Amino acid sequence: MTTFKAALIGTGAIATTHVAALRHAGEQVALCAAVGMDAARTQAFCTEHAIPRAYTDYRAMLTREQPDLVVICTPPAPHKELIIASLEAGAWVNCEKPLCASLAELDALQAAEAHTGRFVSTVLQWRSGAMAQHLKAQIASGALGQFLLGTCLTLWYRDAAYHQVAWRGTWRSETGGTVATHGTHLIDLFLWLVADVWQEVTARIATLDRDIEVENVAVATVVFANGALANIVSSAVSPRQESYLRLDFQKATAEVRALYQYDNTHWQLTPTDGAPDDPAVIAARTPNAAHGGNHVSQLLQLLQHMQRGERPPISLEETRRVMAFTAALYKAAITRQPVQRDSITPDDPFYYAMNGEP
Ligand SMILES: NC(=O)c1ccc[n+]([C@@H]2O[C@H](COP(=O)([O-])OP(=O)(O)OC[C@H]3O[C@@H](n4cnc5c(N)ncnc54)[C@H](O)[C@@H]3O)[C@@H](O)[C@H]2O)c1
Repeated sequence: MTTFKAALIGTGAIATTHVAALRHAGEQVALCAAVGMDAARTQAFCTEHAIPRAYTDYRAMLTREQPDLVVICTPPAPHKELIIASLEAGAWVNCEKPLCASLAELDALQAAEAHTGRFVSTVLQWRSGAMAQHLKAQIASGALGQFLLGTCLTLWYRDAAYHQVAWRGTWRSETGGTVATHGTHLIDLFLWLVADVWQEVTARIATLDRDIEVENVAVATVVFANGALANIVSSAVSPRQESYLRLDFQKATAEVRALYQYDNTHWQLTPTDGAPDDPAVIAARTPNAAHGGNHVSQLLQLLQHMQRGERPPISLEETRRVMAFTAALYKAAITRQPVQRDSITPDDPFYYAMNGEP
C-alpha cells in the first residue's frame, strides 16, 4: 500500500469534513499542507488540524510539496484553474462540486487529464454509499424491471445570512443557484442510478424571498428514452428540509429520504403487491455493506483506484452526466423551451455559462 501525500486548497466550512475523511483513510494518506487566502486563518486551520505547513499561494505549495493528491474545497469559480495546475504538477485531484462553471470548462479539464495522465474525481458523495452502489447493480441487472417514474426533491432552506458570503448568489462566482449547488447531489444520484437515458427537459426557475441573482427554486419535468417521466424540484426556501428520491420500477419502488448524507436505514424498497417474494426484489433490498453516502466513502473509493492507478469512478466523464443535464435544465428554464439531450454544443451560449451569458 502506498501512502499518498495530500494537500488541501480552501480551508472554509467543507474543508473540515475533508480533513476528517483524509484522517479516516489512515496510513493511505499523509496530509502535508493546506492553502487558503488569508495567512493567519490558514495557519490557524493548520494548527487546529495538525497539518504541517500553511500556504497562501497554491503554486508555491504545488512546487514545494509535490503532492500526490490535491483536495479542492474552494468556491467553484477558481476550480478549473486549480485543477489544471494540480494535474500539471503531477497530482490527482478530488474536487468539490460544482466541479466547474460550464461544459466548455469540463472539456478543458478532460484535455488536461489527457495530457498529464492524472485523474480528477468530483465530490458527488451520494453515489458512494453501499445502498446506492447495490441498487445501481440491481437496476442494471433488470431485477426491478423497467424504470417508469422518478421523483427527485431537494428541499433545503438557506436564510439571508447564508447568501451574505461574497461568492454566493451570483452566476459568475457560484456558477448557478440551488440546482447547481444543492440539487446536484440527488440529481446526480438519480441520473446515475437509472443510467441517464433522459431525452428532454422542460423547466422553470425562480428567485424568491432573497436578494440574490441566481435561482433558489427550480421545477423540471424530464422525459426518458423509454417514455418514463420524472419530476425534479430543487429549493433553498423550504423550512422543513429533506432530500427525497423515489424511483418507481415495474417490480418495486426504491426510495431514499435523508438530508445531507445517508446510510442503509434511510432507504426503503417496496415490492409491488404481485411480487413481494420475488428473489430479485429481495436481493435488491439487502446490500452486503453498510457504509453511507458521504465524504469518507467517496474518498476511500478514490484512494482504492489511486492505489491501482485506475481512473476513479466519479470521473470527469461521469461528472458530465449531471453537468450536461444541469446546463439543459437552465437553458430550458431561461429560454422557456424544451431542451433535448446532447443539444448544447460549442455553438451554443449555454455551453460557456449555465445562464447562457458571456
Ligand atoms: N459535497 C458537499 O456536500 C458540499 C457541502 C458544502 C459545500 N460544498 C462545496 O465546497 C466548496 C466550498 O464551500 P464552503 O462552504 O467550504 O465555502 P467557504 O466559503 O466556507 O470556504 C471556501 C474557502 O476557500 C478559500 N478560497 C477561495 N478562493 C480560493 C483560491 N483561489 N485559492 C485558495 N483558497 C481559496 C477561502 O479562503 C475559504 O477558506 C463549494 O464549491 C461548495 O459548493 C460541498
